[in-house]
Amino acid sequence: MELIDGNQIAADIIAELKASVAALPGRKPCIALVRVGEDPASISYVTKKQKTSAEIGIESRLILPPVTITQDALFALIDGLNTDPTVDGILVQSPLPKGMNEVAVFRRIAAHKDVDGFHVLNLGKLAQEDTTGFTACTPAGIMELLKRSGVKLAGKHVVVLGRSLIVGKPVALLAMARTEWANATVTVCHSQTANLPAITRQADVLIAAIGKAEFVTADMVKPGAVVIDVGMNRVPDASKKSGFRLTGDVHFPTVSPLCSKITPVPGGVGPMTVALLMTNTVKAHRQNSASAR
Ligand code: GUN
Repeated sequence: MELIDGNQIAADIIAELKASVAALPGRKPCIALVRVGEDPASISYVTKKQKTSAEIGIESRLILPPVTITQDALFALIDGLNTDPTVDGILVQSPLPKGMNEVAVFRRIAAHKDVDGFHVLNLGKLAQEDTTGFTACTPAGIMELLKRSGVKLAGKHVVVLGRSLIVGKPVALLAMARTEWANATVTVCHSQTANLPAITRQADVLIAAIGKAEFVTADMVKPGAVVIDVGMNRVPDASKKSGFRLTGDVHFPTVSPLCSKITPVPGGVGPMTVALLMTNTVKAHRQNSASAR
């Protein structure tokens, strides 16, 4: 069994971005990070995004509306960022407070600044295999992790557990795309799937993105499979200072001995999401400068 080191691969990408940003003439790329309310996981993710931006030389602008902000006021805030020529990318951290229509908020972000890749135009471009759009960061990070670990998907059976807008759906499209490292046969499973273990056992590459702690057990995995664990579940743990420990969607102790390769949690997919967000921000800056918006 080989551990896929997401921290190392993300560090490589960050170093590459740092070099390319240093070589840019003029204004540096800028990302606006919008975090509504005080969700503890969101605080930690957005802080990581800020720190990584600074490390690369990307400017970040942190915007912290209160949890009581109305959806219309959030739209107005996004409209302001959409027309601000000094902002290249806009990220509104999910989850948003209850009662807000998250998809409507994602659609409000101008497609050419949508570094999260959740806008209809960018999802449409993904389906059309048009590379001028932005690909959602976690799916793009998973594909990069597989590529840089030497896992070619052509002819392989990729099973995706989960059908979310943020991971399941876009990663299925990427894995089946007609690109050098993709061309997989893809099955997407979800909460209504019958005989789930029988399907996941067929996977050459299993991508677990269902948000249920340690859901994938040894009986669900084919020996020799590559397992990508997208889960970031906080489970209570009194022995930790924070009061919780982070665990994936895979029961690592029993599944990992079976795998040819597996991502740990933390240190697998998580750091890749941030690295690919930075890649998208540099791309937005390049495209937006070229079209002099
Ligand atoms: N919450 C969990 N993953 C993501 C992501 O990729 N982008 C945003 N904006 N929020 C998230």
